[in-house]
Amino acid sequence: MEEKIIILDFGSQTTQLIGRRIRELNVYCEIVPYNKFPYGDESVKGVILSGSPFSVYDQEAFKVDLAGIRGKYPVLGICYGAQYIAYTSGGKVEPAGSREYGRARLGRFDHDNALLRDVRDNSQVWMSHGDTITAIPDGFRIIASTDEVAVAAYQIEGEQVWGVQFHPEVYHSEDGTLMLKNFVVGVCGCHQTWSSASFVDTTVAELKEQIGNDRVILGLSGGVDSSVAAVLLHRAIGQNLTCIFVDHGLLRKNEFHDVMHDYECLGLNVIGVDASEKFFKDLEGVSDPEQKRKIIGRDFVEVFNAEARKITDARWLAQGTIYPDRIESLNITGKVIKSHHNVGGLPKEMNLKLCEPLKWLFKDEVRRVGRELGIPEHLIGRHPFPGPGLAVRILGDITREKVRILQDADDIFIRGLRDWKVKDADGNETSLYHQVWQAGVVLLPVRSVGVMGDERTYERAVALRAVTSTDAMTADWARLPYDFLAQVSNDIINKVKGVNRVAYDISSKPPSTIEWE
Ligand code: XMP
Repeated sequence: MEEKIIILDFGSQTTQLIGRRIRELNVYCEIVPYNKFPYGDESVKGVILSGSPFSVYDQEAFKVDLAGIRGKYPVLGICYGAQYIAYTSGGKVEPAGSREYGRARLGRFDHDNALLRDVRDNSQVWMSHGDTITAIPDGFRIIASTDEVAVAAYQIEGEQVWGVQFHPEVYHSEDGTLMLKNFVVGVCGCHQTWSSASFVDTTVAELKEQIGNDRVILGLSGGVDSSVAAVLLHRAIGQNLTCIFVDHGLLRKNEFHDVMHDYECLGLNVIGVDASEKFFKDLEGVSDPEQKRKIIGRDFVEVFNAEARKITDARWLAQGTIYPDRIESLNITGKVIKSHHNVGGLPKEMNLKLCEPLKWLFKDEVRRVGRELGIPEHLIGRHPFPGPGLAVRILGDITREKVRILQDADDIFIRGLRDWKVKDADGNETSLYHQVWQAGVVLLPVRSVGVMGDERTYERAVALRAVTSTDAMTADWARLPYDFLAQVSNDIINKVKGVNRVAYDISSKPPSTIEWE
């Protein structure tokens, strides 16, 4: 990358959002832990210090030596970042009398300041801090205040260093994106040339350079990330990419064949492995959810590795890891670690090097890159699907018969969502499928009484699950139209042998989760 902004992460929940906003301005940026500043990287054009859950005076607060940064790059401190700069320059930071949280308005500000250019009078900003700067050091100039917060924003005289005690990256800060633009474009001089097309061009060139004539193995899951990674690599190295797609027998109805067909149409060199026999055998009689996950994970690695070993000249293993996966795994506050489900440990003796071409992209950027690469929309717009597949949607032990029932019911629900057309907020036609984050059917371990014709039945119950979400961390149950639910329920009960009852799950996450297991 020719130019980038570095966001030093002090652990705030909104750090990722700063990154997203800057990428939306078509400026490339990287989020790095507060103690991993890339000194010497000439492409760095500016630095943003994020917020933090800590107070600057906490013993365990994250500290960074600003001497190597201030004076070399323009700096913008956000919240903790602003307080840290002020505190380490001799200012005073104290607990705020009342927590400064929520909406506020920039009543007085310096309209001519480079950071605040074109910001509107009384512009709303979002505050979220327990501390506040009570005295600014000599040489610092207040450039904006709200009714409650005297030092809403400052600049150091004669330096390209700013601090804001609100969060320009959050939606509720009305001119927040404008301020970030003023900083990254106006002050740092970035050119706004970052786009999916430029990403594809540079990444393909880099991959060619990095990989040369080596052979690469990639595990495909049928999901968006691994598919986009595969097509990107294929564009760079063609048939030197070998993909492996393992069918554990717990995919959606016809999914293995449909997705294999899509991959072949895209020109990918894919080895499809039907390992369902092994998975079903190893899962026999197992009901505990974690146990099921472990067996599936272990078997998956075994099957994948056995196949990979046959490719004796492979030098690289490629993965569709994306940025949020890495940020969560790198999370400096030691919270949530999301492990990769689809490819486990590598065969050590193969000595493969790791290639992760999407590792700097957010999910929506991956989708845009996929479109740029000409991947069909039905692959790009797919819902997330758990690595262990339908195993986590069959409560209790797993049999081929139960998988068959669930696949049939799920197929009716998902096809129904795709076929039910609605208008989006802009009046454009879309489908219920695209309005929900994720949907599926859960097979319950209970039977209930019903009546079909003159017969009393005693058959299985299924639950439909559909949620709206932006990141799967929180989710709400989707308000699907009653008429739609009625049609799906009717279809399932009439067409899926063995099911006589359909329920709709109306729980949100938290406290429930998206999957039942
Ligand atoms: P929960 O159920 O935790 O799910 O609300 C959040 C997201 O993660 C997916 N999920 C999994 N994905 N292996 C995966 O690869 C798993 O074991 C697994 N469990 C849940 C789930 O489908 C949702 O998108």
